[in-house]
Amino acid sequence: MKIGVVGKGGVGKTTISSMVCASYARRGRRVIAVDTDSNPNLGISLGLSVEQTEALQVLPRSVIVGERGDLTVDELIDDYGAPTPLGPTVMSALRVTEAAAGCTCGGHATVRSLLGEAMEQHADITLIDMEAGIEHLSRSGGTLAHADVLLMVMEATVKSVITAARTIALADELGIPHCVGVGNKARLPEDRAVFEQLCEEYEVPLLAIVPHDAGVVDADRGGHALSPDAGGPAWAEIDRLLDHVDQLLGSNAPA
Ligand SMILES: Nc1ncnc2c1ncn2[C@@H]1O[C@H](COP(=O)(O)OP(=O)(O)OP(=O)(O)O)[C@@H](O)[C@H]1O
Ligand SMILES: [Mg+2]
Repeated sequence: MKIGVVGKGGVGKTTISSMVCASYARRGRRVIAVDTDSNPNLGISLGLSVEQTEALQVLPRSVIVGERGDLTVDELIDDYGAPTPLGPTVMSALRVTEAAAGCTCGGHATVRSLLGEAMEQHADITLIDMEAGIEHLSRSGGTLAHADVLLMVMEATVKSVITAARTIALADELGIPHCVGVGNKARLPEDRAVFEQLCEEYEVPLLAIVPHDAGVVDADRGGHALSPDAGGPAWAEIDRLLDHVDQLLGSNAPA
């Protein structure tokens, strides 16, 4: 299953990505988590130290992944993947290490190629934590063109729901089969009605509403992992989200 996590800046893409990855790992799935932020920190939420996250080798740009390409998936995972304490293997795709070094198109091409591979032998879940915005859908070929589902993370604001609505239109053109809305940072119960009303108005299917969680704030403050051991309503909602996604894609969980 190939999942893209998308949305407006700051809505919680990295937070939701790490919680989804950690929860799938807890369910016994093999997870590859790809951070496409030019300023990456998904690794920290999955339990790597700041130093380990900084030390991740950035995926080479513009490579064709696959048996007949530049690098096999195995080589890519061995050379660029880092196992994390919460279980998923994390990779960094688009880190910017030099000022004025040019665009990141080559990095996007690598991610697109990786998603185009049949990953069954390597991972049950490949998740891409996408950079903010919708440009990745308009790039040549579309970075996420091979995704099975996009999780469109939103806050309870018109702007972030409109971003999701625009995402659906572009994803449709690329042939991505499923786009689902994930409300985040909800101050319940008031924000539930806001999400429901905005999503109805802009025709965004709303699959989950993840509450604002003090544990997430604390973990980010200290640069710590977001562990399912913390429990609480946000994790319970992520669990429900995974059930919905599995149902949507007819995916088989291992026994
Ligand atoms: N459910 C939540 N409860 C409380 N705080 C949250 C929640 N989700 C995200 N946050 C906070 O919101 C901020 C932005 O989250 P995050 O970095 O995940 O967003 P993002 O969409 O990945 O941002 P960017 O566009 O910069 O990549 C962080 O400070 C994070 O701690
Ligand atoms: Mg992010």
